[in-house]
Amino acid sequence: MTARATPPQTTPRRQADLVVVANRLPVDRVVDGDGEPSWRRSPGGLVTALEPVMRRADGAWVGWPGQPDVDVEPFEFEGTHLVPVALSADDIELYYEGMSNDTFWPLYHDVISEPRYRRVWWDAYVRVNRRFAEAAAAVAADGATVWVQDYQLQLVPRMLREARPDLTIGYFHHIPFPAYGLYSQLPWRRQVLEGLLGADVIGFQRVADAGNFARAVRRQLRYETKASGITVPNPDGSSRRALAKAYPISIDATSYIELARREDVKARAVEIRESLGNPKKILLGVDRLDYTKGIRHRMKAFGELLEDGKLSVEDVTLVQVASPSRERVGAYMQLRDEIELTVGRINGDHDTMDHTAIRYLHQAYPREEMVALFLAADVMLVTALRDGMNLVAKEYVASRIDNRGVLVLSEFAGAADELPSAVRINPHDIDGMKDAIMRAIEMPSAEQGRRMRALRKKVIDSDVARWSQSFLDALADARDHHRPTAPGRLEGPGRSDATTARGTRS
Ligand code: G6P
Repeated sequence: MTARATPPQTTPRRQADLVVVANRLPVDRVVDGDGEPSWRRSPGGLVTALEPVMRRADGAWVGWPGQPDVDVEPFEFEGTHLVPVALSADDIELYYEGMSNDTFWPLYHDVISEPRYRRVWWDAYVRVNRRFAEAAAAVAADGATVWVQDYQLQLVPRMLREARPDLTIGYFHHIPFPAYGLYSQLPWRRQVLEGLLGADVIGFQRVADAGNFARAVRRQLRYETKASGITVPNPDGSSRRALAKAYPISIDATSYIELARREDVKARAVEIRESLGNPKKILLGVDRLDYTKGIRHRMKAFGELLEDGKLSVEDVTLVQVASPSRERVGAYMQLRDEIELTVGRINGDHDTMDHTAIRYLHQAYPREEMVALFLAADVMLVTALRDGMNLVAKEYVASRIDNRGVLVLSEFAGAADELPSAVRINPHDIDGMKDAIMRAIEMPSAEQGRRMRALRKKVIDSDVARWSQSFLDALADARDHHRPTAPGRLEGPGRSDATTARGTRS
């Protein structure tokens, strides 16, 4: 997973026909023992999702190198032209930790944690979004397609359109878009909608997210929306049509299948089982340590099953991988304390010398190890309180080449729309979750097979290549057909609404 970088080479300024703009570059900066910096490919859903597309298109990627004040020239890395956007320690605190992850993140995840609205964060968000937009405008070739990613950069589409009207602009929102009643809390609700509407195509994970967005546009801006089309007035009185619809993201299923077939990965799965004392059943949770993931709810249900005597640690172990995330944001620090207290209590009450209730790992692992864990896990617990998609659910399914294992999946994860053959739960309903866990543990092999085959078919058919292709097709369509209408007319020509009736959501 972490292919070592060849030393980056500074290259002459290059213009690209496809530009991705994301908060993070697809690489991490690592410094070796001699103090020599180099880059290695970073893990994570978005990077995995876009990497094959970028390689094929010979594109450019604009993003932050992930550390303060790393100001380096653009360079080539594994077939992609990388354009670093430097962020100072202040930018990180105000734009990334503040506005992005202490305002937008909790607001867009249904205020599971209370969003904080601070004007100084907003000012930094505007400033940093402008910097990303400028970097993208500088690297985009004439008439290029620019694809902006996620909630950290919601103002970039409009800024780009103003600077470069020749571009075709897409935006994909990886997280939920909340119901209007919540969205309307945002003091800058109009500016954000106008920022997003700079794009020709605005993609969401679920049909419901696209619907929430369209409603916010109607209520706040009074623009006309019809099915997935939104009529956006231009400053000169003409109008154009933006498309807002669901494009559920997926994974590179083949790479998981290949890993799951590897003898060393299979052997590692056996080794993991043995090192846990060969329990009859292994339950698994894999998440960033985030309050949206329902980790505490999951542990509560599992702890109660042990308490009730329905499960015993000799028979069942829960492995919880919680990768470190946003560790300087208060809500994340608090969550970590709560989870670790909970793990300590449950283990203290139930562990034996030979067996543990919860094997808790506050670490990130390479993909090989994750697939070995997926192969070792009889039951995968995805209990998010709110999640744009949840790619871990899809990774588990893709890895189960034996057609066994049970996916327990929250209805509040985008993946639930596409994976009806999972055991569906409401994570707020602890009794319901306990029943679902027992059902998953006791599920006969034949039923596991039936469900897993249906899940695998969906994940393999709708993989990330299809996702990116369908989004880029919509952008190509926008480029070819969505010309502005004459001043005075509001309804644009172009695609029929029939094309918007996509059945899939995330
Ligand atoms: C979510 C977001 C991504 C983000 C990732 C990791 O998946 O949708 O935009 O990159 O979390 O979070 P981080 O704050 O570490 O980038």
